[in-house]
Order: sequence, then structure tokens, then C-alpha cells
Amino acid sequence: MATPRAAVILAAGKSTRMKSSRSKVLHHVGGRSMLSWVADTARAVGADKIVCVVGEGNADVRKAAEDLGLDIALQEPQLGTGHAVLCAKEALAGFEGNMAVLYADTPFVKPETLERVFDSLERMGVTVLGFEPEEPGFYGRLITKDGELTAIVEARDATNEILDIGLCNSGVMAASTKDMFSALDRVGNKNVKGEYYLTDIVEILRGDGRAARVITADEGEVLGVNSRVDLATAEMAFQMGMRQAMLIKGVTLRDPDTTYFSYDTAIEPDAEIGANVVFGPGVSIAKDAVIHPFCHLEGAKVGEGAQIGPFARLRPGTEMAAGTKAGNFVETKKAKIGKGSKINHLSYIGDAEVGEGANIGAGTITCNYDGYFKHKTEIGDGAFVGTNSSLVAPVKIGKGAYLGSGGVITKDVPEGALAVARSEQVNKDGWADRYNAAQKKRKSKK
Ligand code: UD1
Ligand code: CA
Repeated sequence: MATPRAAVILAAGKSTRMKSSRSKVLHHVGGRSMLSWVADTARAVGADKIVCVVGEGNADVRKAAEDLGLDIALQEPQLGTGHAVLCAKEALAGFEGNMAVLYADTPFVKPETLERVFDSLERMGVTVLGFEPEEPGFYGRLITKDGELTAIVEARDATNEILDIGLCNSGVMAASTKDMFSALDRVGNKNVKGEYYLTDIVEILRGDGRAARVITADEGEVLGVNSRVDLATAEMAFQMGMRQAMLIKGVTLRDPDTTYFSYDTAIEPDAEIGANVVFGPGVSIAKDAVIHPFCHLEGAKVGEGAQIGPFARLRPGTEMAAGTKAGNFVETKKAKIGKGSKINHLSYIGDAEVGEGANIGAGTITCNYDGYFKHKTEIGDGAFVGTNSSLVAPVKIGKGAYLGSGGVITKDVPEGALAVARSEQVNKDGWADRYNAAQKKRKSKK
């Protein structure tokens, strides 16, 4: 049987450089928080137990971590990365297996990479994920000898000779829970920062006769976010990766640089995406669908061959079936639109179910909200909703019914009926001539 896996996510640090009232790790990249990226990576490699280490100062992180189903360990005060992991000991009591340490502000570590880190532990000891940054700067340096890792030295504590080393510590590290905690119990704080360094476990475990090794990743994968500048860099890197991946799998992007994705955007090959389109979380687009320029989609399913936009906004709960259309200035929310139905211009369709082959005229509005509650509109197959109709929900329009233009529909319309819900037109013959003559006379007297 495979060794059980756990992960400890460090998130107790203060994040002053972000200049935010929100904790750093709750800022979003690619449509979700950095914390949720990291939790997902841990889950993807089968970590049964995931502990998030938080400080008293970041109650928002604790709440978010709980919502993500993570266990919580409190670290107060924050005495360093080694101390942080030690604080998770109680939460991991009774767990025996391998554990990885991850940083909540380092969102892009790939599951495959973490898998390699865990796999290497089947040969015992400790594994550190290293990388060769363009600018080694303040990263801890990995000292190696004959392919073995012998120590990690923090930049602040390093000699010039050590600072010349290009191989750095990403922060990701793994060992068995037994080794990890036995080593952490022995970590001291005699260093420049006076902190308990997680990195010291390498030398301690080697002293116990354990092996220490380095596995490497690309710099982009271990990119840490400390400021809004880093956050923007991370977002850009994510978007570039997604654009590339979409193009490679056969999605047409008319102007890749202006297409914005979320972590879970799913698009089938042969779909076509115009310029300036934003995909919020929860969007799927089927093959041969076309998203014309300037659309914003979130929580929406777009079926095969559907045509969306330009300038359409599909909000959560939208399901556009195959061959449907949502044209310019159309907004939908919680709306199921059946096969081949069209909403071509200037409409709001919310809390609605539209059958197949229906035509929703320009300017149609579902009046779904009464100031307190939301109500549903149902429109049957093949119905024809005239332009500028207000459908006051709850209301049902039967199959094949016709609604005359400009109606305020408050009552259900039976199948196949015509509903005219506006005051009748009155024509007054010769009225304009009489009006003009009277007004001209008044004006000439002044
Ligand atoms: C750490 C590593 C360094 C590595 C670098 C990579 C140590 C001693 N140093 O340095 O080798 O190159 O990361 O980015 O481990 N945290 C807590 N509690 C604490 C301290 C930190 O939860 O008491 C968390 C922070 O929120 C952060 C992470 O741990 O997510 C890293 O802490 P940070 O202080 O940024 O470590 P570095 O000095 O950058
Ligand atoms: Ca750091």
C-alpha cells in the first residue's frame, strides 16, 4: 500500500508588502485565491490531511481554509518557518506517513512536481524542491556534494562564496512525519533573524544518517507572491500558460493577448473566441461555439455551435444549449436556454427556463425580482416573445404562444395563444393639422 500523504500549508506570515486589508494568500490568481490553488495541489497528489498554519492576525485566512475543508493550526507568535511547521504537529497527531510543506503564497507548484517530491521519499530522508532563479537574491542556497544535499543556508547567514551558488530553496520540502517532527524538535534559532528555520532539518536529518536530496522545478512554478507587482506577474504568467494550452489543444483565439481565463475554464477544440473576452470561474464551451468579441462569462455552459455576443454577459447558472444565440447587450443569469433558441438583442433573462426553438425579441426583460424574492419565468418550445416584452415572474408562456410587442405579461399565456398586454392604439384623423394651426397662431401673437 502506498504511504499516506499529508500537507502543511504555511500562511501565518504577515503580508505587509501587499498593502491590503485582506490577507495576501486570499488574493486571486486565475479566478481563485492562492490558498485554494495550493490546497488543490495538495489534494491532487492525494494528501488525506491538509493543515493550514495561520496566525491570530489572519482570521480571514482561517475562515477561508475552513471553508476549503482544511485543518487549522495556530502559530502565535510567528517564530519562523520551522516553528510554523512544528505548530501543525498536534493537528497531525495520529497521522503516520509522508508530509510536504507548502507555502500559501506560492500558488503554481504543479501536482506532477509535488508527486515527484513525494515519490522520492519512498527512499526515506528529506527532499527539497530547488530551482535556479535568474536573481538568487534572498533565497536560501542549496549546498550539494556528489549529488546529495548537505545543507541549506539562508542568504542572510551566507558567506559570499555560498551566495554565488545558483541553486535555491523554493520552500517546498518533504519528509516522513516522524523525521520531520523529530528534526524540528531539535532546530534552534541561532541565526541572523533569530528564527527557527525549517531549512535546518536538512543538516539535522543527515546527522541522523538520513539522505537529503534536491528535485528541481522551473522558476515560474515556484514563483512567490509578496506584492501587487508579484500578483500581476503571477496573473500574467497564468494567462500566458492558459492561452498557450488552449491554442495547442485546438481552440481558436482571435487575439490571445486579450483573452482572459480562469483556473477551470474548459473549452473544446474548434470553439472560437474573439478578442477581449473574459472567462470567470466555472465556464465550459463546447466545440464549434463562437464567443464574439467583448463578452464576459462566468458560471456558464455554452453548447455546441452556440453564438454568443458580441457584448454579451453570461452570469452564473446560464446554460445555453446547442445552436442557441445570445447577441449584443444580452445578460443572462440562472437561465436554461433550450436548443436553437435565440435572444438576439438587448435583453435580461434571469431565473428562467426557455424551451427549444423559441425567439426572444429585442428588449425582452424577465422581471424576476420583487424587491424581496426571485421568481421564475418559463417559456415553452417555439414561443415567440415580441420585442420590448416585460415578463413579470412568476409567469409561464405556453409552447408556440405569441406575445405582442411591448406587453407587460403578468398572467400565464396558454399554449398556442396570442397575448397582447398593452393599451389599444387610438388614431385621431387630422389631429396634427389642427394642433399645428393652433400652436402657430399662439406663437404669432407673442
Ligand atoms: C524561506 C526559506 C528560504 C527559501 C524561501 C523561498 C526558511 C528559513 N527560508 O525564506 O530558504 O528560499 O522561503 O521563498 O525557511 N511563515 C509562517 N510562519 C512564520 C514564518 C513564515 O507561516 O513564522 C510562512 C510565510 O507566511 C510564508 C512562508 O512561511 O508563506 C515563507 O516565509 P518567509 O518569511 O517569506 O521565508 P523567507 O525568508 O522568504
Ligand atoms: Ca518569502
